[in-house]
Amino acid sequence: MSKFVIEGGTRLKGKVNIGGFKNAAVAIIPATLLCPGKCIIENVPKIQDVKVFLEILRELGAEAGYINDTSLYVDATNVKNCFLENGLSKKMRASYYLLGAGLGRFNSASSLMPGGCDIGDRPIDQHIKGFEALGAKVEITPNGRIHVRAEKLTGAKVYLDVVSVGATINIMLAAVYAEGKTIIENAAKEPHIVDTANFLNSMGADIKGAGTDVIRINGVKNLKGCTYKVIPDQIEAGTYMIAAAATKGDIIIDDIIPKHMEPITAKLKEMGMGIEEYGDSMRVYYEDELVPVNVQTLPYPGFPTDLQQPMTVLLSSLKGESTVVEGVSEDRFKYVDELKKMGACIEFTKKQAKIKGRNNLRGTVVQATDLRAGAALIIAGLIANGLTEVRNIEHIDRGYEHIENKFMNLGAKIKRVRDE
Ligand code: UD1
Repeated sequence: MSKFVIEGGTRLKGKVNIGGFKNAAVAIIPATLLCPGKCIIENVPKIQDVKVFLEILRELGAEAGYINDTSLYVDATNVKNCFLENGLSKKMRASYYLLGAGLGRFNSASSLMPGGCDIGDRPIDQHIKGFEALGAKVEITPNGRIHVRAEKLTGAKVYLDVVSVGATINIMLAAVYAEGKTIIENAAKEPHIVDTANFLNSMGADIKGAGTDVIRINGVKNLKGCTYKVIPDQIEAGTYMIAAAATKGDIIIDDIIPKHMEPITAKLKEMGMGIEEYGDSMRVYYEDELVPVNVQTLPYPGFPTDLQQPMTVLLSSLKGESTVVEGVSEDRFKYVDELKKMGACIEFTKKQAKIKGRNNLRGTVVQATDLRAGAALIIAGLIANGLTEVRNIEHIDRGYEHIENKFMNLGAKIKRVRDE
């Protein structure tokens, strides 16, 4: 077990390179199961969730591994079924994509219910609704194992009652070979939905409309292996943007798609940060005292729920009051108790936080309660007086590549220490 020890008070300066999008990679990697052929996936972040997925694919009979630091290969030709017997699916949320991919390729799949961050109730009823609409039967056993199977998959119209990233992608995966046309209405529009659809199309699928709220999938007979490059990580980039604002820094964020950053760019500009956009990079710089703003998380193109926690830390460091409303996740303010230990003045319910800035944060020992909360606590440590110890950092390693090295390169005083 390791922890991060952070000495606060440094303004971030310099350049940070952003890796491939975790949430796209963890959809594209299981999507390779759909194809009896070899895929090469480039710009993949070297994070724990990706390593676990490679282990899962090998367990299912695929050949899979890293080619170099950022590329990997998967050859799922010899995979015979998608029944994951072990508990690896409990290690992350995205393991639910095994169900859609297995259903698509083999008309059946099974695994234990997915794990992932504890941010409230995270049902998969919309995934199930989609699978059933295509003709599958779904059974969840009392010990939490989910089985999906179909005699035959036939295209259908599915209206999502909740805008769900996972359900939208899972239905796309299940429908690529389904006979006829599948239409997903009220689909999620996140950049990784588009990226996954582009990957599937590169393998030979026929998917149109990804990135809008209606996605049309014409079933195809065959898919073939391909080489595909994952888009940059919108959430990793947003984390460094917010860290630059919190530390009154001046940084260049490289290898990004500035368009994907708009919900964050807009809020930071409203607060008074300077932002200059270039082709695939941006400069984020502090000019003058920032003003607090109200934030509501929403599905894309709204402000991402995955950046709610870092944003709350930033707001708690400003003079004045602000409100953060959580419009996506069920219960994503648990980490506030950790921030309070550092002196933050925040009242919260499951859905809303009222922040009274500016209480200078002071370093202490805090626990990362989940992945993005962990990133938020690092930012809190960067602006706190004294030393902050962030524990349970295995949550952070699930989704951020070399986070301490990237912050160190920006001048932060942060080190990974093995916990005794
Ligand atoms: C994905 C992201 C996660 C992000 C979230 C919202 C991955 C691996 N994870 O998670 O980082 O925080 O999108 O942008 O891409 N819901 C239902 N029924 C369902 C599915 C979802 O009620 O069948 C609800 C959820 O409880 C949640 C909301 O819909 O309140 C959004 O969930 P969803 O978009 O599905 O998030 P995930 O795919 O779990």
